[in-house]
Amino acid sequence: MKPVQFNNTVLRDGHQSLAATRMTTAQMLPAAPILDGMGFAGLETWGGATIDSCLRFLGENPFDRLRALKKAAPQTPQLMLLRGQNIVQYTSFPDDVVEAFVRADAAAGQDIFRVFDALNDTRNLATAIKTVKACGKHARGEICYTTSPVHTVEAFVKMGVELRELGCDSIGIKDMSGVIAPRVAFDMVTQLRARVGLPITLHTHDTAGLGAAAYLAAIDAGVDIVETSIAPFANGTAQPDTLRMLALLEGHPRQPDFDRRKLAELREYFTGVYKELGKFTSPDNERVDSDTLIYQVPGGMLSNFRNQLKEQNMADKFDAVMSEIFYVREALGWIPLVTPTSQIVGTQAMLNVKFGRWKTIAPAAADIALNKYGRPPGTVSPELIKLIADRTGQKPIDGRPADALAPRMPKLREELAAKALPTDDEACVLWAMFPQEFAKLHAPKPAAATTTAAVIPTPPPVAPVPAAPLPPPGPGAHRYRLTIAGQTTEAVVEEI
Ligand code: CO
Repeated sequence: MKPVQFNNTVLRDGHQSLAATRMTTAQMLPAAPILDGMGFAGLETWGGATIDSCLRFLGENPFDRLRALKKAAPQTPQLMLLRGQNIVQYTSFPDDVVEAFVRADAAAGQDIFRVFDALNDTRNLATAIKTVKACGKHARGEICYTTSPVHTVEAFVKMGVELRELGCDSIGIKDMSGVIAPRVAFDMVTQLRARVGLPITLHTHDTAGLGAAAYLAAIDAGVDIVETSIAPFANGTAQPDTLRMLALLEGHPRQPDFDRRKLAELREYFTGVYKELGKFTSPDNERVDSDTLIYQVPGGMLSNFRNQLKEQNMADKFDAVMSEIFYVREALGWIPLVTPTSQIVGTQAMLNVKFGRWKTIAPAAADIALNKYGRPPGTVSPELIKLIADRTGQKPIDGRPADALAPRMPKLREELAAKALPTDDEACVLWAMFPQEFAKLHAPKPAAATTTAAVIPTPPPVAPVPAAPLPPPGPGAHRYRLTIAGQTTEAVVEEI
């Protein structure tokens, strides 16, 4: 029996799940060569929230991070997480921007692209997958796992077949909330192997304490790869720890061979990094939390929601908002809760509890109901569609959402040229997604003092420039600050 393989996630999902995506390239580089020599099938190092975090919080160019990590760990394939047509943002981009992003990323050294869509609408994955293949890279089509009356093993297997037809090299089961039960993992892997026939990876989180058991069941069913991290950036809301997973496989015919001494060294190294990032870690994320099973929402979303409700003076409404999430999800056709839908459903549930059901509809929630994010897995509430039509005159769309978007690359290049910024594909895609942060990255740095302080007086400290405040909400509008998985967004939600 072939040993199971491990991908390691410590450099992406590990710190995204437990330390608000704040690990810097400098903190990663010492560990990269050791990770490279361990025999992992892949290292997840990029995508998800890391690009946003590099630009917004760390002042790093994310493509430079990838190049540095490729140089430090050249042997092991590196993985990224790509949100299909959303790339690594919350809204849809035209095909030419998605293509340019994949091309630039492939050129910078990316090997494996984990491509997913929050609605599991494979039309939103087609452009990315096609481009990954055109670049000669590995496309791993992800099935977002969630539980609902419409999410049966049969439906997931059907999606697996679609992903194979789109040209994927392998299939990933992406259990972002850590809610897959071991027996379901066993059944899904068994069915996907029998009917899709591509290599399968299971990706889960230990949020509810099911992760390692789900991996074990999937390994029994013949899964090719499972994804583990390195403690303390492991367990809790992140992936199970590699050493822990090895111990769990003791005596198992598929136990892989890893140097445990080196793994212990890595754990020691990352313990230091975890301490450095102490401001961004929380015991709430480290412990097993079965609430995620009760409320059926991702663990990270739960802990952030508790804080947000406190900020909105709605702490006593926690149970009401949580059950409203369930209701909103059903009304929106049982969409999986993963970025960006988790943010959208969470906000709408909060609005419903605060102002009454559908009294205020967030534009993004209306867009989901109108199929603007893609086809929801179940039926959208006809009452909600009617309500939106009555208030805005908008009707649901039929086609692939990106078909409605005009190409943007020539315009992006023009805009960058006008600002005397770089105009290559890398610059264009970052500019398209994070214009302010990208411009800040290229802003001239203050010149460093080169002579003695005795000659040149020390300049007074420069006060940080506060971010431009949002305009005050107009009549019928409300302002919300939403933090999910360490990312804070502020939005004025208009009433429609
Ligand atoms: Co994950």
